[in-house]
Amino acid sequence: MNLILLGPPGAGKGTQAQRLAARLNLVHLASGDVLRAERASGSELGKRVESYMDSGALVPDEIIIEVILTRVRAAAGASGILLDGFPRTVAQAESLAEALSAAGERLDAVINLRVPDEELVGRIVGRRTCPTCHAVYHVTANPPAKPGVCDNDGTPLKQRTDDTEAVVRNRLAAYREQTAPLTAYYAKSGLLHEMDGTGAMDEVNEQLTKLVQDLAGDR
Ligand code: AP5
Repeated sequence: MNLILLGPPGAGKGTQAQRLAARLNLVHLASGDVLRAERASGSELGKRVESYMDSGALVPDEIIIEVILTRVRAAAGASGILLDGFPRTVAQAESLAEALSAAGERLDAVINLRVPDEELVGRIVGRRTCPTCHAVYHVTANPPAKPGVCDNDGTPLKQRTDDTEAVVRNRLAAYREQTAPLTAYYAKSGLLHEMDGTGAMDEVNEQLTKLVQDLAGDR
């Protein structure tokens, strides 16, 4: 199955995608993680995307589309792809459809995680991530066993440079203007499934897994 997890910054896309991909053996492709890895490596691409990411703006389509579609093409045909953070514009959605079709694949479903803005800001400002394994924590909602250290590999946790309140407001504005229209776009093709993302992480994960298993059964 090829799936997209859609939703505003902080909706829980990364948290849920990691769990769902492990449970259902899907390739998890997170555009934000790909870009952060490029920055950490000091690559030319990493330098080109730095200012957009730090201000909370979207990276231009002409840069991100090729970066992500290269990975989609490489993963196509395996047990399935779970996209997190891509597409974020209608142009990205159209290019994804073309790439999947060229690989003899199709998109099976788009799941939109809904969380109100006031909750998103608290989630993002309290987020801590592991630079080694990309595990996602929250200082109160999902703390590591030992404060400030990743449970999986003992790496010191970091706060993302774009996880400040001011940048979050810009990210939410970019989401509303450029990404939210994708819900109508995918509703039109019958692929959209709305999901409440406000419950506890485990509850959301159970509901999401059940939805995806039902969809797989209907194929
Ligand atoms: P990206 O890394 O994709 O960030 P984002 O979409 O803003 O999403 P987040 O990672 O902030 O949130 P999430 O929904 O994954 O939530 P998480 O699970 O971590 O993109 C970063 C930047 O890269 C963009 O701003 C842009 O510049 C660029 N970019 C990336 N893709 C692009 C594209 N396609 N086009 C153009 N530019 C692109 O959870 C958040 C926190 O909440 C965590 O602390 C978690 O522990 C906690 N939490 C999760 N679920 C719950 C719950 N149920 N209850 C309580 N707390 C919870």
